[in-house]
Amino acid sequence: PKVVYVSTMGDERVVEAAAGETVMSAAVRNGVPGIIGECGGNNSCATCHVWVRDDFAGRVGGPGDLEDDLLDLGVEDRRATSRLGCQIELTDDLDGLVVDVPPAQA
Ligand code: FES
Repeated sequence: PKVVYVSTMGDERVVEAAAGETVMSAAVRNGVPGIIGECGGNNSCATCHVWVRDDFAGRVGGPGDLEDDLLDLGVEDRRATSRLGCQIELTDDLDGLVVDVPPAQA
């Protein structure tokens, strides 16, 4: 599935991901700026925060409990569609997914 990462400057990075990869791992593998994935996808660092575009929010769904807590504590600008990229597994159903990447997270 294809994933589009949009920076706050409006730059789009289109990545061809493998099914089963996550929004975080596909970004890190392709060097998408702004997605760090410091904890390696263990739902504990919040450096993989993204805002899912509204059109996809229903298909992506909301965060789990642990992720929800981490979003509360660990990200600067939590919004209604905030998710941790490592907790979104990509499937063909999510082909064309568009996410906005926060300005800086390290
Ligand atoms: Fe650390 Fe997602 S990579 S929480």
